[in-house]
Amino acid sequence: MSKTRAAITGVQGYVPDYVLTNAELEKMVDTNDEWIRTRTGISERRILKGEGRGTSVMGIEAVKGLLEKTNTDPADIELVICATVTADMQFPDTANIIADEVGIKNAFCYDINAACSGFLYALTTGARFIEAGAHKKVIIIGADKMSSIIDYTDRATCVIFGDGAGAVLLEATKEEEGIMDALLKSDGAGRIYLHQKAGGSSYPATAETVARGEHYVYQNGRPVFKAAVSGMPDVVSKVMQRNGLSNEDVNWLVPHQANKRIIETVAKMVDFPMERVMVNIHKYGNTTAGTIPLCLWEWEGQLNKGDNLILTAFGGGFTWGAIYVKWAY
Ligand code: UT7
Repeated sequence: MSKTRAAITGVQGYVPDYVLTNAELEKMVDTNDEWIRTRTGISERRILKGEGRGTSVMGIEAVKGLLEKTNTDPADIELVICATVTADMQFPDTANIIADEVGIKNAFCYDINAACSGFLYALTTGARFIEAGAHKKVIIIGADKMSSIIDYTDRATCVIFGDGAGAVLLEATKEEEGIMDALLKSDGAGRIYLHQKAGGSSYPATAETVARGEHYVYQNGRPVFKAAVSGMPDVVSKVMQRNGLSNEDVNWLVPHQANKRIIETVAKMVDFPMERVMVNIHKYGNTTAGTIPLCLWEWEGQLNKGDNLILTAFGGGFTWGAIYVKWAY
């Protein structure tokens, strides 16, 4: 009997309306459009405005649209995983909030916190439940409201991040398509370079942690850049190699959108032409767990059944990985 695989059968994205341009950032911190564009590739990013509106607001929109376009009954969804580092609350998980708001009542729901690699971790985890025969329909969300943890007086981070969400439907299939392979990695030693120090159990929120700005993203960009451009090519090459894929066999490279220079370096290191690399960082910046599903959503119309995609990401943790997806529709 052929193996059960998990196929992506739909994708939907959502970005908030408010556009934060480089010109607006120039008025907030000592930066300029030229630096931001040449060092990161970003021209603008989206920001979710409004008190009490958390990451779930974007996840709900993405999942609602996904259920509608795939003509899926919410009652048939058995598992919802939301990758995020900006959960609405410490608990319960944002996946529960999203499921409740869209009428998914027969699923168990939880979040995965693997920063920029979160979507890859969640996609792999969801696929395993399907491959094991436990579930038939699973929703994977990547969503982050990065503006909720960014210090808009810190030019090193505020120009990079944005808000956004994407979601995919995973369904069981007996065809040779879907999530074909995954190679995921972690190295906790990287935590010193990229983290949000306070608000957890080590440094619970106090007036002092707030005053010291410890609830914001801290990033020492250079070591993260260096680790990203060595980690991603390594896992991409390994996944391609062990699946017998040459560069010509891969239709699209779908990289996490952290920095256009990182994307170009990774593509160059694996000798992959930029025409077949999904890049939308100029419009959305780094939406952390949102970047990869937002790319898939935007390129959906150009994808064909049987296309080979390599998804790859690197982020806080450190976490990184690559997934081989054979597009199923
Ligand atoms: O998605 C999660 C994983 N994260 C990443 O993958 C991010 C990896 N790192 C990066 O993408 C880059 O390191 C950054 C975009 C964060 C920074 O770029 P960089 O080329 O590494 O800049 P840098 O931090 O080394 O700073 C170079 C200079 C510094 O000035 P001096 O010391 O040379 O005078 C900074 O103070 O650029 C200055 N600078 C800025 N200037 C204008 C830093 N940020 C800005 C800014 N505008 N926004």
